[in-house]
Order: sequence, then structure tokens, then C-alpha cells
Amino acid sequence: MDFKRNIVITGGAGFIGSHVVRLFVKKYPDYRIINLDCLTYAGNLANLKDVENEPNYVFVKADICDYEEVRKVMAYYSVDGIIHLAAESHVDRSIVDPFTFARTNVMGTLTLLQAAREAWEPQGWEGKRFYHISTDEVYGARELTHPEGIEPPYSTVASGEHHLAYGEKFFTEDLKYQPHSPYSAAKASSDHFVRAYHDTYGMPTIVTNCSNNYGPYQFPEKLIPLFINNIRNRKPLPVYGKGENVRDWLFVEDHARAIDLIFHKGAVAETYNIGGFNEWKNIDLIKILIKTTDRLLGRAEGEDIDLITYVTDRKGHDLRYAIDSSKLRDQLGWEPSLQFEEGIEKTVKWYLDNQDWLDNVTSGEYVKYYEQMYK
Ligand code: NAD
Ligand code: TYD
Repeated sequence: MDFKRNIVITGGAGFIGSHVVRLFVKKYPDYRIINLDCLTYAGNLANLKDVENEPNYVFVKADICDYEEVRKVMAYYSVDGIIHLAAESHVDRSIVDPFTFARTNVMGTLTLLQAAREAWEPQGWEGKRFYHISTDEVYGARELTHPEGIEPPYSTVASGEHHLAYGEKFFTEDLKYQPHSPYSAAKASSDHFVRAYHDTYGMPTIVTNCSNNYGPYQFPEKLIPLFINNIRNRKPLPVYGKGENVRDWLFVEDHARAIDLIFHKGAVAETYNIGGFNEWKNIDLIKILIKTTDRLLGRAEGEDIDLITYVTDRKGHDLRYAIDSSKLRDQLGWEPSLQFEEGIEKTVKWYLDNQDWLDNVTSGEYVKYYEQMYK
């Protein structure tokens, strides 16, 4: 079968990647979607059970740092678009093992860029696209000037009780990069390489920087799924420092929708920030998580509040991420679709309804399965 487009999605077995793969496979039956992933601890093909047999879906187990493998995939599938999500993504791991982050996030991105260049440049760049998914963490941290919260200077879908910001300054696309963690330093470096391939060779690139995602299929080392699982099992909830750090949260399907829109309609060489207009202090978010999880488990709301355990702060812990995604809203008409309380309710419900997935991931069973399968 001839496909209208052949798109590689890297990191498609991970959290956000699996939502992007699902959206593209279902929405575009005339595109072939090639999920290129090496299945690290964070990659799990169980995230894609519902699309794995679709005729327009292909899984390729490959490392983005393996130049020869990536070249082969580019040629074999006549790839004309890359949506690049594969990365090491957890800040705490980057503090312990920065080299792995430099290898995957920097060298892996460069390898993909060079393989794409080799495949595309001789035919001309027309119809090609290299879309790099990055993070708001490259901007560093914004000041927390209003600990009590203020009305943000833009309209927001979070028209319910909570739509506050914790300072007047936000991350905008023109802000200088000031990464602090090895994770964000590696992501920043990869963003620079992507822009360099546009400026030097003319590759049609796009970069987006998104805030914290939450939703189904997130690896339970990140705050929200870790805490839901711990509340379920009545284990301590390790809150770093005083729990005063602020993050902007976006439901993962809204991120996937933005990626679809920007891949098709975004302007070449542009950067778009993606966020939820939805800042929360960790401790306030954690209290909502406890209440929601308790209620959905049939426990008294808030009965697990004593699980909160303040622990030593993360090294170099960024105080406040505050993305301003009004450029994306104004230029391409994208807005988040869910209010936070709604998204949290959906998310907690998903993890409680999918305890097998959670148990499989936390026990590491899925890793053993892939080791057998890809021996
Ligand atoms: P994740 O850790 O859940 O998934 C990463 C995926 O990449 C896994 O499937 C893993 O197997 C794969 N991978 C890792 N190294 C690889 C390699 N060398 N070759 C091939 N595949 C490899 O990550 P995520 O949270 O879904 O994040 C996806 C992307 O979005 C990352 O680039 C991240 O920086 C970015 N991002 C994440 C967030 C967030 O809140 N999670 C926010 C903004 C941006
Ligand atoms: P995380 O989900 O790791 O995302 P990021 O560090 O990329 O923002 O963490 C979200 C926030 O929650 C961050 O401020 C660190 C904090 N946190 C805890 O307090 N305890 C935890 O166990 C984890 C994993 C995170």
C-alpha cells in the first residue's frame, strides 16, 4: 500500500510518544506511522495495545544514537517527516547519571538530524519536516514573586476555582536559555542543534517547548503517577523541600493535539511554547491528588493526608516553571481543552482502572518480556 506520508515518531513507546502515535495512527489512516524506540525502562509497548495491529502502524526497535540503523529506516520507509520525542526525561535520574542524558538527548538528536539530512538534502527539502519536542525547563526558572497567587495576564480555560499564577513573569519564546539540571542542559543543547540544522543546511525544522504533562501511561517515577500509586498502596509521599515549587500542568492528550496541529500548520524555523495556563504549587496539587484518589478508592476524602512526608530537596530544584503559550493560541488557535480538576479526575481514574499496567511497570515485568522478545 502506498502511503501519503511516512512519519517516524521517536520515543513512541514512552508516555507522550504513545499518545502522539495513537492520535496519528487513528486520525491519519493514509499516513504510515513508524514508531522508532529502543525500549529503555521508560518504553512500554503495552501503551499501544489498541493500535499495534493497525495497517498503518509499524514498530522498529532501534536506538536513535545508532546512525546506521536510523539511516536504514529513513531509506527503507522513504521517511518524509520526523516527530522526535525519544529522550531520557527524568530530572532525578539526570542528577545521578548525566552522561546517559548527554548521549541520548544530545548525540541521539544529532544522529537523527544528520541521518535526515543525508536522506533529504539531495532531493531538496520540499515536503520534509523535522519536528523536535522539547521542554520548558530549558528556560530555567521564573521568580516566585506572588506566593499567594495572582490572576495571570491572559485568559485561561481553567475558569474554575483555580487559575492563578505565582509571579508576573513567564517563559516566552524569545527568552534566553538558562537550563539548570543535566536533563534540561541536554535538552537545551539538542534544541540548539535542531536550529543549527535549519540555519546551516536549510532543514525545515520546528521546536516546541512544553510544560509538565500528566495523564495515562506516564512512568510512575514522575510526581503524579508515583503519588497515585503510593496513595493506593498507602506508602509515604516524598515531597521535596517544602512543596512550594510551582509547575504548569497540561493533560497529555492536549499536548498530542498541539503536536498534530503544529506538525501540519506550524511555520518552519519557529518555536512554539505549549502549556496549560495552569500553575500549581506541588503541595496544593498533592492535596487534590490525595482527595481524588481517596474518593475514587471509596476511602474518606483526605484520609491519606498523613502519607505526606517532607524529604530533602532535589539538588538545583527549579522553583517555578511558568510557560506562556499565547503565541500558539493566537497564531494557530490551540487551547488546552480540560480544566485541571477534570484532568486529574480522569487521570486518577485511569491509574486505578489499570492497576495491572501499573503493577507490571513497577515490578519491571514488562522489561523481562521485551528482553525475551528481542533476544
Ligand atoms: P518517557 O521517558 O516516558 O519516554 C521516552 C521514550 O524514549 C521511551 O519510550 C524510551 O524507550 C525512548 N528512548 C529513550 N532513549 C532512546 C534511544 N536512545 N533511542 C530510541 N528510543 C529511546 O518520556 P516522555 O515523558 O514521554 O517525554 C517525551 C519527550 O517529551 C521528551 O523529549 C521530553 O523531553 C519531552 N517533554 C516531556 C514532558 C513531560 O512532562 N513528560 C514535558 C515537556 C517535554
Ligand atoms: P517531576 O514529575 O519529576 O517533573 P519535573 O521535575 O520535570 O518538573 O516533578 C514535578 C515536581 O514534583 C517537581 O517540583 C519535583 C516534585 N517531586 C516531589 O516533590 N517528589 C517526588 O517524588 C517527585 C518525583 C517530584
